[in-house]
Amino acid sequence: MATGIFITFEGGEGAGKSTQIRRLAQRLNTMGRDVVLTREPGGSEGAEAIRDLLLNGAAEKWSATTETLLMYAARRDHLERVVRPALAEGKIVLCDRFADSTRAYQGAGGDADPGLIEAMERYVVGSDWPSVTLILDLPVDKGLTRAASRGGGEARFESKGQAFHERLRAAFLAIAEREPQRCVVVVADQSIDAVEADIWAAVEPRLKAG
Ligand code: TMP
Repeated sequence: MATGIFITFEGGEGAGKSTQIRRLAQRLNTMGRDVVLTREPGGSEGAEAIRDLLLNGAAEKWSATTETLLMYAARRDHLERVVRPALAEGKIVLCDRFADSTRAYQGAGGDADPGLIEAMERYVVGSDWPSVTLILDLPVDKGLTRAASRGGGEARFESKGQAFHERLRAAFLAIAEREPQRCVVVVADQSIDAVEADIWAAVEPRLKAG
């Protein structure tokens, strides 16, 4: 059976994930690879509807436990309808955030029970973990300044305060330390071109021939 490659991007707010994911998609397209660019929460019609519920409104609108359940409802739909079918067709799936964001935002940033998150991972993600996860790392104050200057809506998580975001950063770095086979930490506090080069150095060896 043809199997594609699942690549995820993670990190705090304002780390430059969107720019980098677009650049990687362009590069892979130029090489003739079939790429699906997607995001979480969202990426399928149903999951995008759940995204609206999650990202708009007051910071305390949902508890971290309810957020976990909503994130995983969205993730299930996205995996079922978009990610798994694309991988089965041999495509490269680039996803802006995935399960590590739930570990960081709801588990470390919030107070969701790690046992709930693990159970959801087993049930919803199963063995479909990414081949590589790029964790874009940036000091919290720089990330929040960048995110604020970008403006726009969907700022529920941005508004949660410095201590919350420091816990996120530490959580992403801890995940990378625990899972060095899957995760690569990329220093995001450098030029866009330099970040792109570091990402390419991590991705290229993992591309299968074809
Ligand atoms: P982004 O598209 O700007 O990255 O926004 C998505 C927001 O949702 C971001 O603030 C992180 C948050 N999020 C979680 O809290 N848990 C999750 O599992 C995911 C995927 C995202």
